[in-house]
Amino acid sequence: MDPVLKETPDVKPYDHIVFASPVHGFMLAKVMLKYLNQADDLFGKKVDLFVTHYFPFQWMGGTQTLKQMKRIVELKHGEVHQMISVNWKSKRRESVIENLIKQIMEP
Ligand SMILES: Cc1cc2nc3c(=O)[nH]c(=O)nc-3n(C[C@H](O)[C@H](O)[C@H](O)COP(=O)(O)O)c2cc1C
Repeated sequence: MDPVLKETPDVKPYDHIVFASPVHGFMLAKVMLKYLNQADDLFGKKVDLFVTHYFPFQWMGGTQTLKQMKRIVELKHGEVHQMISVNWKSKRRESVIENLIKQIMEP
């Protein structure tokens, strides 16, 4: 099913953007795919990416979803820095998220 976007946050005013999505069916959630595809050009912008996934290994969706996001961002001339996947089922989830925030906050 093709999702309908009710809101499309504007990326123009920002020079650092974080895009995040759950992994759905080994790829980007359809709503995020639609949002990224319609987003403005990202030239000159620093972009960090993270995904959340449920399966135990990154190769079960996380890795390819991050690559998919990177491809779209780079097609729009964005500069990808961090690419992080968070295993939603992991006991270490909270510390991974804390670390992720630190990495994203790095200048
Ligand atoms: C339709 C659907 C498909 C999913 N496909 C995957 C998948 O391929 N790999 C995976 O690791 N997790 C998959 N998940 C689990 C979600 O990625 C995981 O639950 C999510 O990242 C955590 O956020 P949530 O609160 O939206 O569930 C799927 C979840 C849904 C609803």
